[in-house]
Amino acid sequence: MKNIRIVIDGPAGAGKSTISKIAAKELGFVYIDTGAMYRAVGLKALRAGIDTKNNHAAVISLMDGVAIDIKHGGDGQLVYLDGEDVTAELRTPEVSIAASDVSAIPEVRLKLVALQRRLAEKDNIVMDGRDIGSYVLPDAEVKIFLTASVEDRAKRRHDELSEKGIQVSLDEVRSDMEYRDKNDSARDFAPLKIADGAMVIDTTGNSLEQSVDLLIGTIKERLRCFSR
Ligand code: DC
Repeated sequence: MKNIRIVIDGPAGAGKSTISKIAAKELGFVYIDTGAMYRAVGLKALRAGIDTKNNHAAVISLMDGVAIDIKHGGDGQLVYLDGEDVTAELRTPEVSIAASDVSAIPEVRLKLVALQRRLAEKDNIVMDGRDIGSYVLPDAEVKIFLTASVEDRAKRRHDELSEKGIQVSLDEVRSDMEYRDKNDSARDFAPLKIADGAMVIDTTGNSLEQSVDLLIGTIKERLRCFSR
């Protein structure tokens, strides 16, 4: 039987990763976070001292030799950059901005999309990102667009960063988020948008538990329609 692919797209901070990870565990599916792949490329560019916003040629030349591998650990996904486990380094504000910058470069996207499509071939998966339903896996069995107000998203991301001991003001998180929303939606190649056939779920004001229940309920309903 063919594997089932559930795709979850949406803007930064909508809770995609947290909610998708819990939903995947509950459904017994493999969780794949595609944002972490763009973050790994952003990290590589930062380490090389590249201006990610303006020097696309330098980022493209980095892509020739880069090796990004994904492994599934007990608590989710591990990301290897050129053989090194960089999972713990991917969530800083600098890496977030660099990831958004490099994700506008078609050469970066094509390489990562090929990896994402390979990973989606065999297991039942929940894959989250920006363009998964519209570009990477347009024929996915279930497509969700998860969103929330910018205030809610900034607050959520600010809480996450504080828990990790990363000190930034709420205003800074909010303005980074607005920068990324604009960047991610305005790029020419595979921008963030609601895919054809996607269900929109707005988590504004919801607790994590409510959002997870809403998502799992929607997925199960879709899977029932699909198996009829
Ligand atoms: O989901 P995230 O915040 O970890 O993603 C980091 C950046 O990567 C985000 O600003 C946009 C980009 N991205 C993308 O362009 N396409 C994806 N499928 C996933 C992420």
